[in-house]
Amino acid sequence: MKKTIKRIGVLTGGGDCPGLNAVIRAVAKKAMNDHRMTVLGIEDGYEGLIEGRAKDLIYSSVSNILAVGGTILGTSNTANPFEYAVIEGGKAVKKDVSKKVAENFEKWGLDALVAIGDDGTLTVAHKLEKMGLPVVGVPKTIDNDLNATDLTFGHDSAVQVISNAIDNLHATAQSHHRVMVVEVMGRYAGWLALRGGLAGGGDVVLIPEMPFSMDAVIETINDRRGSGRRFSIVVVAEGAHEKGRDLVVRQRIEDSPDPIRLGGIGKYVADIIEQRTGVSSRIVVLGHLQRGGTPTAFDRLLATRFGAAAAALVAEGKFGRMVGLKGGEIKDSSLLDAIGKLKTVPPDHELIRTAKSLGTFFG
Ligand code: F6P
Repeated sequence: MKKTIKRIGVLTGGGDCPGLNAVIRAVAKKAMNDHRMTVLGIEDGYEGLIEGRAKDLIYSSVSNILAVGGTILGTSNTANPFEYAVIEGGKAVKKDVSKKVAENFEKWGLDALVAIGDDGTLTVAHKLEKMGLPVVGVPKTIDNDLNATDLTFGHDSAVQVISNAIDNLHATAQSHHRVMVVEVMGRYAGWLALRGGLAGGGDVVLIPEMPFSMDAVIETINDRRGSGRRFSIVVVAEGAHEKGRDLVVRQRIEDSPDPIRLGGIGKYVADIIEQRTGVSSRIVVLGHLQRGGTPTAFDRLLATRFGAAAAALVAEGKFGRMVGLKGGEIKDSSLLDAIGKLKTVPPDHELIRTAKSLGTFFG
């Protein structure tokens, strides 16, 4: 007989993104209203699950958070119960502390867990499920690079930030007849640069999936000037790279689940443009501005639908599953389908073909 689920835990892992609170709210309200469950909010992602830090969520704890950025639960993008950094003999060593997770589950009286996060969070969720813990996943990332869902919430809000920034940069680029280079996030996928760049009307868009030629970028800027367009907006994804050259890395962190921090390609591109065209060029790195702020209406709706669907999966006892958007509908798939494989931009994607036909240059 199927076990009745009475008490669930919810956590947010990985980098924050707009819409996390909307998911927490939807999971909790649906669980309380429709299924009479109680809800425990686990603090700081898997860190709280390991260290036993959590707080009960009541109706009022999840009211008035729909439009709030970040996560009321806190997050961690390094804590992994299967490789957790602990100090032993004055040294940091990685240990499998997954037993602690099972103990806390028991101590808190949890019947299930909803894990909201990116590839790393969902990979751990899958492993916990394999260990016998009932887990359901909700995909999040501004990068939109997760498999098994057409879109992740947070992406649209970040695209809006990029598009607004490019609108503002147009004015100054036009007034000073400059090249403005905008570096955006996205890790190894170009969705943010592509969608944000197109929405803002960028002239050149450089994405990781299409290594670029600096000669061709220079030629495009010179051609634009030759035909009277004295300014250009170049949108560069942090993971974009020149043909035959490596990624530009801002920082390497030994022994981290995420050992490479990307960044710096925008400056590289802006410097070469200025040297070789003689046109004054400036660089703007949007950075974490893309992750902050209130979620767009689109992201609030997607996050709300994801959260409610996750609570429904829990109530049905469908564990090891993840909610996602497929062809406009909310569908669930195996957690395994979501992890380990990045969803990158196909170079023949309809948006790329459309943009090219309107004169956007991809390097
Ligand atoms: O995955 C989301 C993301 O914002 C990436 O686009 C970016 O490369 C990375 O996280 C930045 O991570 P951090 O917050 O650790 O600097």
